[in-house]
Amino acid sequence: MKKFEIVTVTGGLGFIGKHFVRRCLEQGCFVRNIDKVSYAADLTVKEEFEQHENYRLYEVDVAEIDYLPESDVIVNFAAESHVDNAITSNHAFCVTNFLGTQNLLELVRSKQVNERPLFIHISTDEVYGDIIEGKHDENHRLVPSNPYSASKAAADMLVKSWGRTYGINWQILRPTNNYGEHQYPEKLVPKSAWRMRRGQAALMHGDGSYIRSWLHAEDTVDAIMTVMEKGERDSIYNVGSNIELQNIEVLRAIAKHLNVPEDIAWKSTGNRLGQDVRYSLDDQKLRSLGWEPKREFFSELPGIIDSFDFKRFA
Ligand SMILES: NC(=O)c1ccc[n+]([C@@H]2O[C@H](COP(=O)([O-])OP(=O)(O)OC[C@H]3O[C@@H](n4cnc5c(N)ncnc54)[C@H](O)[C@@H]3O)[C@@H](O)[C@H]2O)c1
Repeated sequence: MKKFEIVTVTGGLGFIGKHFVRRCLEQGCFVRNIDKVSYAADLTVKEEFEQHENYRLYEVDVAEIDYLPESDVIVNFAAESHVDNAITSNHAFCVTNFLGTQNLLELVRSKQVNERPLFIHISTDEVYGDIIEGKHDENHRLVPSNPYSASKAAADMLVKSWGRTYGINWQILRPTNNYGEHQYPEKLVPKSAWRMRRGQAALMHGDGSYIRSWLHAEDTVDAIMTVMEKGERDSIYNVGSNIELQNIEVLRAIAKHLNVPEDIAWKSTGNRLGQDVRYSLDDQKLRSLGWEPKREFFSELPGIIDSFDFKRFA
């Protein structure tokens, strides 16, 4: 991390961002975190980070900030990230995910060329849309299925075009579905576990046959570090996983750990509008740099369920 002593992060109180911030602090970096502290921000981690002398929080919206602190790299995690919310109400997704990225890119552009940080943008596998068989590589066209993935795909386009037009150095990572400790309980694993623990059936989209790949947030942090250190500039990296599961298999594993009988552990809700059937990434480009996922879903899951604490969130 020597090349990147001063790191600006956006969304560093969110699920993946906080793992990345903690890693940077452990490595001795100075971290500037631009986070508006939305409902998804972890308030326990907010207190934890504020004890650290190398850490500053800028509590502001990425779409409104008008100053970018000096740094060697900016890693853009900030996003409205939940697909169900995007289907209900999509305006905030366009503002944060699209206009927020545009604002950050403009702030990078406004700096002297030699003082511009590398812009690392955290995208998602969802920008490719779904795939029934095979895998998407980085050259596949973007066919997003819902307002969340459309806003993320649009942001990717901005990053690439700011690179070509204005010469900004960038990298884009497209991770698959992340799991890990202290995720906001709107996503499948924490939401389902929390409902089951309270004696409520988990809510399953359709018949539970939709397939997702599962990647630990710490493996995603490893991937970002790898790309920062060894990746090509102005290049896109998929971040896949070693495991694909139907949603019902995830629910079955949670129910087993919590000793909830399967006949009451979940119930089917209607299907998600625009539902993606399966995501799958070809991530050979990243693996050729030496990265691979180290954590195993079924080994990690019990600890993640047991450590969940809803009081972390507002
Ligand atoms: N979670 C996943 O499975 C996953 C998978 C692939 C890609 N991603 C991408 O990774 C990034 C991080 O996802 P996450 O799950 O950690 O998100 P999250 O929803 O847990 O956290 C988002 C964070 O961004 C902050 N934020 C939201 N809007 C903001 C704004 N306008 N200005 C400043 N801060 C704002 C929130 O306060 C929060 O701390 C996102 O860009 C997401 O699209 C997530």
